[in-house]
Amino acid sequence: MDSGGRTALVTGANRGIGLEIVRQLGDRGISVWLAARDNEAGEETVDSLRKEGWDVRFVQMDVSEIAGIRSAFKIVSSQVAHLDILVNNAGILLDESTSILDVAPDIVHRTVAINTLGAFFVTQTFLPLLVKGSRVVNISSGAGEIGDGMSTYAPVYSISKTAMNAMTCQFALALKRKGIAVNAVCPGWVRTEMGGKMAPRSVKKGAETPVWLATEAPIGETGKFWRDRRVIAW
Ligand SMILES: NC(=O)c1ccc[n+]([C@@H]2O[C@H](COP(=O)([O-])OP(=O)(O)OC[C@H]3O[C@@H](n4cnc5c(N)ncnc54)[C@H](OP(=O)(O)O)[C@@H]3O)[C@@H](O)[C@H]2O)c1
Repeated sequence: MDSGGRTALVTGANRGIGLEIVRQLGDRGISVWLAARDNEAGEETVDSLRKEGWDVRFVQMDVSEIAGIRSAFKIVSSQVAHLDILVNNAGILLDESTSILDVAPDIVHRTVAINTLGAFFVTQTFLPLLVKGSRVVNISSGAGEIGDGMSTYAPVYSISKTAMNAMTCQFALALKRKGIAVNAVCPGWVRTEMGGKMAPRSVKKGAETPVWLATEAPIGETGKFWRDRRVIAW
């Protein structure tokens, strides 16, 4: 498939849904920057993908560190003129079966720093590379939905994703006149280290709608929350 020379960057992409998003973008001939916080894991993953024939490059980026995000931006922007696709995928789930009444401060800080502020500062830092027609895809979760009522399962994770959804609306509004689409997507319950073995979805299925938003969805679709190519309640 012709990529039209498109370039993407995916955070937290050394495993799980992020890695599968890299594969599916690579399948479309898109040149991908695989960002991961761990050098060894990122480089090993990129080496094996390159051996399989994909055009993938590694950039180290811990999304919870502004200096690291800025260093990654310097490296990427020295090699590409623009980014067509930015996928904020990196995420953690630390407070499963924990109560909001006594969850440890460290868990609250780390969860928000990575799941919400990580995506926030990556988007802000990489803005100079985004152009008319670029797409930002935020990997959110149904756990962050408040429209249908929230569950108490993983309260801080839920809050971090609700905030990511609000952030999606704000960036979408701010970037609409520049022709840049910003959307949030729930991948469903997916079999990864985070999702566990009992999850009904494969990574292939989990990556499908994020990749659709990153490539084929109408560019006028922005500021929305999606699952299985359909808009869902915030
Ligand atoms: N699996 C599900 O059922 C499910 C459902 C809804 C939403 N999601 C969302 O989908 C996304 C991917 O989840 P997953 O299931 O693929 O999880 P996963 O297998 O646990 O992978 C998470 C990825 O995020 C990376 N990461 C964590 N902290 C990071 C940081 N500070 N900087 C950069 N990368 C970091 C991890 O890197 P390391 O290898 O270095 O730890 C790993 O590559 C997450 O945002 C998650 O909230 C997942």
